[in-house]
Amino acid sequence: MKAVTVIPLKAGSTELSEVDEPPESDGPILVETLAVGICGTDAEIVSGAYGWPPPDRERLVLGHESLGRVLEAPAGGPVSKGDLVVGIVRRPDPVPCANCAVLEWDFCRNGLYTERGIKQHDGYLSERYRITPDFVVKIDGALGVLGVLLEPTSVVAKAWEEVDRVGGRAHWDPQRVLITGAGPIGLLAALIGVQRGLEVHVIDQMTSGVKPDLVRDLGATYHTGAVADACPSPDVIIECTGVASLVLDAMSHVGIGGVVCLTGVSSGGHVLEVDEGALNRTMVLENVAVVGSVNANRRHYEAAAAALAKADPAWLGRVVSRRVPLERWADALDRNPDDVKVIVEVNPA
Ligand code: BGC
Repeated sequence: MKAVTVIPLKAGSTELSEVDEPPESDGPILVETLAVGICGTDAEIVSGAYGWPPPDRERLVLGHESLGRVLEAPAGGPVSKGDLVVGIVRRPDPVPCANCAVLEWDFCRNGLYTERGIKQHDGYLSERYRITPDFVVKIDGALGVLGVLLEPTSVVAKAWEEVDRVGGRAHWDPQRVLITGAGPIGLLAALIGVQRGLEVHVIDQMTSGVKPDLVRDLGATYHTGAVADACPSPDVIIECTGVASLVLDAMSHVGIGGVVCLTGVSSGGHVLEVDEGALNRTMVLENVAVVGSVNANRRHYEAAAAALAKADPAWLGRVVSRRVPLERWADALDRNPDDVKVIVEVNPA
């Protein structure tokens, strides 16, 4: 079968390869891949900056934001032939650590977890894949191809859970949230904020195009310019860019007792001048909490499925801004200014 594969840490090595059918050892459920979303992590892997091949192999099958249709499944299990499904990305470490042992693999403590399409386990950007029942999530068939947004939505569902848990350290009645970045993660974080009835502000550098419209059509407010001017003293900031200056701005401008949740991954190498004393003083005297958040466990996939089911399908359809066929996979990695979520269509839905 065909698969997009890469030699991790080797730029220019990504290709459409002919690979073996998925191994039975990956699980009894056989899935036909319909679509795979592309994100910054894939771009990093393709650029040679991130990723790990499976043991004893040179190449890794790319792709972790999946949508597929079940071809074969054992009777009496959680999914049946024809169901639309999404594969969970992370697998617990084999030890397992205390967190993986209770299925909170997103908090793996020893780093020995694997991730499909990223770390030591083939991804989903192949014509078919196999999976075990505990790592497959069934989605509402009505979502169709929009189900490909489940994985990025699971990442923001986890971020919101972090915000709730950290905010809940004292009386917590948030009203206003600022999201930095109007990419797919920022937009999906804004969607959940609006669904929670919050006053949602989104800041991004694009002054025109689809992003401002998507934010406004959610009922949120779109800003460009400085964080301080966009939204004074928000209760919550969800940072979705990884841009170092925005991370610092978020920490300095969140409201008293506020929570900053960092979801963007910075590339490093950006040294900023910062008055650490003033930052420390504000954070301490104002009880500011900053929490990093990565990945998602099954509970977050389920929360994400509920959020997508409640969302306007026409709005979600505009978040999926470009679709490319498998043969032209490389086009999906070329960023266009108006791209939001670009997906590779593997088999026709
Ligand atoms: C994925 C996460 C993963 C993270 C780090 C993100 O793009 O959505 O599932 O844990 O990359 O590898």
